[in-house]
Amino acid sequence: MASGRRKIAVIGAGNVGATCAFVLAQMKVADIVLLDIFEGFAKGKALDMSQNSNVLNYDGTITGTADYNDIAGSDVVVVTSGFPRKPGMSREDLIGKNAEIISQVGAGIRDHAPDSTVIMVTNPLDLMTYHMQKVTGFPTNRVIGQAGVLDSARMAHFIALELNCAEEDISPMVLGGHGDTMVPLPRYTTVGGIPITQLIPEDRIEAISARTAGGGGEIVKLLERGSAFYAPGSAAAIMAESVLNDRRRVIPASCYLTGQYGLDDVYIGVPCIIGANGVEKIFELDLTDSELESLQGSAHFYKGQLKDILGY
Ligand code: NAI
Ligand code: 2OP
Repeated sequence: MASGRRKIAVIGAGNVGATCAFVLAQMKVADIVLLDIFEGFAKGKALDMSQNSNVLNYDGTITGTADYNDIAGSDVVVVTSGFPRKPGMSREDLIGKNAEIISQVGAGIRDHAPDSTVIMVTNPLDLMTYHMQKVTGFPTNRVIGQAGVLDSARMAHFIALELNCAEEDISPMVLGGHGDTMVPLPRYTTVGGIPITQLIPEDRIEAISARTAGGGGEIVKLLERGSAFYAPGSAAAIMAESVLNDRRRVIPASCYLTGQYGLDDVYIGVPCIIGANGVEKIFELDLTDSELESLQGSAHFYKGQLKDILGY
């Protein structure tokens, strides 16, 4: 049944894209278009999800397509198209193949959904977000990368296991790039308002931070084919919903920096407000020298790759 709802396009109907669409359907916030290079794949997933409407009591339309005309009028576009890692690969190993895909997808979004806000998921995340902004030419606040919600949620889970406490009372904070250089921030991570530095011994915090940074790789190794998708798809859906409903959630996300934290012309994970205009505000935390060095180190790693591999 057609509706007057707003519209979210999800590009890539694979594991992350389909999960994201499924979570969004249950939020009942928008009509959803699932676009994949394989038309039948997108249509099949959309039909399967549509047939679940009665069971899970969601409404609005979920359609599958390979045609960019069908994303016209989208308020938000979530981009998950691209290759995932195989065991032993880093996210950066995906750069060449996925940059080509993002060039093609970015052109489709630019031409058919020029007023949308883009939530990037494709890896290597911070680099593909930068590339998407260049391809679309959209204002930098309207191209955002999903990493911090996922990485922080992983940290929260490991803290909950450590303290045997409720996940919902944990406010985690992970900044930096979505890769080995990510920067978990225990000083800014609280449980029921109490900094974890007062609750967990230093060596255990270090172990939790290390497991967080390797969180994606741990799952790649276990799965043996493909990478994580339940938490990543949900994280992207949360960001899309914050834009769509102007929720103004305060979350870490990969944002374009223009001098904050001593960094510019790079996308990297920082705390921000996500609302109707995409990135509404970036918060500059008071960091110790070592925390700032880690964040800057992470950004410089990606700046090097932007220049050396993508030619920016
Ligand atoms: P997948 O292989 O299950 O799905 C990818 C989909 O993209 C496939 O259905 C494929 O047909 C489609 N596709 C490929 N080229 C396309 C094109 N030119 N146009 C439209 N669709 C195209 O992979 P999965 O697991 O869904 O992961 C997708 C991406 O998300 C990977 O790059 C992965 O590394 C990344 N990822 C990022 C995370 C993050 O936190 N930022 C977390 C998890 C995954
Ligand atoms: C993850 O962190 C592979 O980036 C993906 O699970």
